[in-house]
Amino acid sequence: MHVSIIEHSTYFTSLPREYYLSEEIFREELAKVITRQWLYAGHVSMLPQPGSYYVRDVGPESLIITRDEAGRVRAFFNVCRHRGFRICERGASGHVSKAFVCPYHRWSFATDGRLLGAPGAPDGAEFDYRDWGLHEAHCGVWFGAVFVYLGQEKPPALEDEMASFTGNREGLALVEPERMKLIHREVYDIAANWKTALENNSECYHCAQGHPSLGIACDYREFFLRPEETGRDVRDLGGERYFPFRDGMSTFSMNGDWVCGKRLGTPQDAGFAAGWIVAPNYAAGAFFADHAVLMDVLPISATRTRWQCEWYVHADAVEGEDYEVQKVVDVFHKTNCEDVEFIERNYDGVTSTRYVPGPQSARREPNVKDSLTAYLRLMAA
Ligand code: FES
Ligand SMILES: [Fe+2]
Repeated sequence: MHVSIIEHSTYFTSLPREYYLSEEIFREELAKVITRQWLYAGHVSMLPQPGSYYVRDVGPESLIITRDEAGRVRAFFNVCRHRGFRICERGASGHVSKAFVCPYHRWSFATDGRLLGAPGAPDGAEFDYRDWGLHEAHCGVWFGAVFVYLGQEKPPALEDEMASFTGNREGLALVEPERMKLIHREVYDIAANWKTALENNSECYHCAQGHPSLGIACDYREFFLRPEETGRDVRDLGGERYFPFRDGMSTFSMNGDWVCGKRLGTPQDAGFAAGWIVAPNYAAGAFFADHAVLMDVLPISATRTRWQCEWYVHADAVEGEDYEVQKVVDVFHKTNCEDVEFIERNYDGVTSTRYVPGPQSARREPNVKDSLTAYLRLMAA
């Protein structure tokens, strides 16, 4: 039985301490939460043609994400059907002309997962090849982002799921996220439970004192105002999850100046933002007029979490001419490093026997409540 009430009359609280420490609860989360929702798994720009592929850790699994001969984006568990070997190495990417070949005993698999050959074991002699294709994960593409669903049952439609997490679809369409290219990725290993990371990333109560660089372009005060209270044309990022700009700032960068001369999609004005956020796993896409940042939080164990962040610019932007990687990456990398410190130090305190979750405000930290509510709904299912 799980807690069902985290709401009090004038505040809400996070989950009891054991939810952040227990490996047993973590195993339950894998079965009920992590494999029961669409998870961000990369970007179509990494799959330019049939046979393109990349290997990506998603939740507890390693997946081969590829474009098959018919041009469809597919996701296969990186597990050889012979003895379970990892067919592709962690982090590998590139192009296969015909097949993925397991390096252990040379079984080969087509880009649509079919077993093509097993040395010394012709099809039908000992077993039928059609019974031993790669296990496939549900896969979908939404505004250029690849999502996978690890559970075996039929998932909810990706389009419907994302619709519930996105405020400004029109904004997304304008920046044409499918026509971007990846210019940098950071992976942060965090000594904390994934829900501590989720909570941190879901609120901006800590931003003003915690993220001075991000605050150069971002007007944190507006996070705590409702759009009708701001009296400004603030572009919406998922309801209240928008990125409000300070006056005169063009994009989110260390000084608020543009970081890429080639704008995304249909060129937008200074101060433009659109995006999506998925709860209760935390994945987010933030799109500005000149670049985009996509990130996701990967639970590894009850006490370890991995956070990935990727930076994108227009597919035709030229490094050195239109942008410098460092300038695009700086502000969010710095902010992410600050957050990693917050998350680890927060988690360290949560491990204390004296920790009990304290009062949080639905006004200051509304997305924490949303994320935990979505989490508990899945845990109760
Ligand atoms: S485990 Fe892959 S071919 Fe044997
Ligand atoms: Fe933060």
